[in-house]
Amino acid sequence: MDRPVVVAVIAEKGGVGKTTLSLTLAVAAVLAGRKVAVLDTDPQSTASKWTDRRDAEMPWVVPTHAARLGAAIEQARLQGVDFIVIDTPPHSSADATEAARRADLVLAPVEPHLFTLETLPKLADLLKIAGTAPALVVINKAAVQGTEARDAIEHVKAQGFEVCPVVLYLRAAHRHAGNVGKVAAEHEPRGKAADEALQLYEYTLRHITRSREHAETQSTRARA
Ligand SMILES: Nc1ncnc2c1ncn2[C@@H]1O[C@H](COP(=O)(O)OP(=O)(O)O)[C@@H](O)[C@H]1O
Ligand SMILES: [Mg+2]
Repeated sequence: MDRPVVVAVIAEKGGVGKTTLSLTLAVAAVLAGRKVAVLDTDPQSTASKWTDRRDAEMPWVVPTHAARLGAAIEQARLQGVDFIVIDTPPHSSADATEAARRADLVLAPVEPHLFTLETLPKLADLLKIAGTAPALVVINKAAVQGTEARDAIEHVKAQGFEVCPVVLYLRAAHRHAGNVGKVAAEHEPRGKAADEALQLYEYTLRHITRSREHAETQSTRARA
């Protein structure tokens, strides 16, 4: 069977939305008909506790240690999982690097204000150490009004990062949903947060498909 898609969600700071982004993406993949696992490497177990409040079986949330990610991914693959999201703890470059190494795509949520934007150089260093996985910075919790999202996109691009064009705006549905073991798309299926989640999922999947195809072309060329 094909290798599952692996997305790592990393950020130096706590509270910027790593777990929300992980679960949002995981449930979007479930709604798209995939078999999904979230590998929860955060000792705070936010994703694992979320699943305790949840009725639905999917996504599976598997608590694991970053050092065991290889085995956890392989186990998930053997059980037919085709979409994996790795949620990571803050303030642990070692765990984040390990997750990034295993990923087809790294997603790095940032809040559009200086305190988190200041952590970007550290993210750049980490991605360098982790190697070649493509990375997208995702603007999260942007104010709906005003130019905050647009300004943050420009700022992040100017620092040399690729930015996800889909912005996740500050929407109460994320918080309300988390409290009851859901994501915004389940809590308010017709809401704007649900729409953003679907767009984010589709964009990341297209991104991964493109970079996998590119990698295959490169290796075919190298063999020829
Ligand atoms: N786009 C958003 N809009 C509103 N609240 C959000 C959004 N993203 C995250 N949150 C809230 O922010 C808090 C921290 O998010 P969380 O995903 O736990 O961050 P992290 O995993 O990076 O520590 C949670 O209460 C979550 O519901
Ligand atoms: Mg978290």
